[in-house]
Amino acid sequence: MTTVASQLQLKLGVVGKGGVGKTTVSGLVARRYAERGRQVVAVDTDSNPNLGLSLGLSLEEMEAVPVLPRATIVGIGGSASSADLLAEYGRSTPAGPTLLSAIKVAQAGAGCTCSGHATVRSLLSDALENVDLTLVDMEAGLEHLSRSGGTLAYADLLLVVCEPTRKSVLTASRTASLAAELGIPGVLAVGNKAKSPEDVAFFRDTLTSEGIEIAGILPYDPEVAAADRVGEVGLQPVAPAVQAALDEVLDALDKARARIET
Ligand SMILES: Nc1ncnc2c1ncn2[C@@H]1O[C@H](COP(=O)(O)OP(=O)(O)OP(=O)(O)O)[C@@H](O)[C@H]1O
Ligand SMILES: [Mg+2]
Repeated sequence: MTTVASQLQLKLGVVGKGGVGKTTVSGLVARRYAERGRQVVAVDTDSNPNLGLSLGLSLEEMEAVPVLPRATIVGIGGSASSADLLAEYGRSTPAGPTLLSAIKVAQAGAGCTCSGHATVRSLLSDALENVDLTLVDMEAGLEHLSRSGGTLAYADLLLVVCEPTRKSVLTASRTASLAAELGIPGVLAVGNKAKSPEDVAFFRDTLTSEGIEIAGILPYDPEVAAADRVGEVGLQPVAPAVQAALDEVLDALDKARARIET
């Protein structure tokens, strides 16, 4: 475990191609940071939200989490402080982190979700007092970086989740370019669902040749997949190999965060 780095606040966007495991990894990383004694806020920005399940809420509890007000300017000169939003809309979860739900599409034809993303962008621009990690689980694709202003423009780091496919690494590469344009200080990758030494070698070769630092490589865990089938992903004990990989990811994130300060 790092010491100096653990004092620093981290604003982390979890991104990547559809279905690679962003929400699963978000839940595992948020829970592991909480287990390390850090104050964690996990923000679900998926229009089809399910991060709450990965943090141990039941479907009913997750559906009851109030959605953040849209187009809210947070901080000095704004209509709310981040502390107000957290107190009013945050819900504690069995896994430890406090969950914020930013986007929910409840009605067909109700228009785009840009104003919900604007709230998240503004929330990230403000310092959340007493919060060590603000983790934002994003929708698939790249729109969070291209949308007006960029939802994640104020993130310190992006964690781009990949599975062992060329297309997911291509998404990581495009993410890294757009993040650099937005001025996001760092992008790290996590290889997920590795089933063989060939998969591990694939991640190392392709991500390294794209110049993207690998924070860690999580094995494919049948228990994770099985828990997901019954919607109980949040509180399952994690296989030792997954735990070890997660600890590597957290240490790499802390080190990358510490580098931003210097
Ligand atoms: N390490 C893993 N081992 C086994 N299964 C995994 C692992 N990571 C994710 N999965 C499975 O992959 C599927 C997709 O995961 P998840 O919903 O987290 O992806 P996502 O990137 O958030 O998807 P979306 O793009 O729809 O938001 C789920 O069924 C999940 O259980
Ligand atoms: Mg997801």
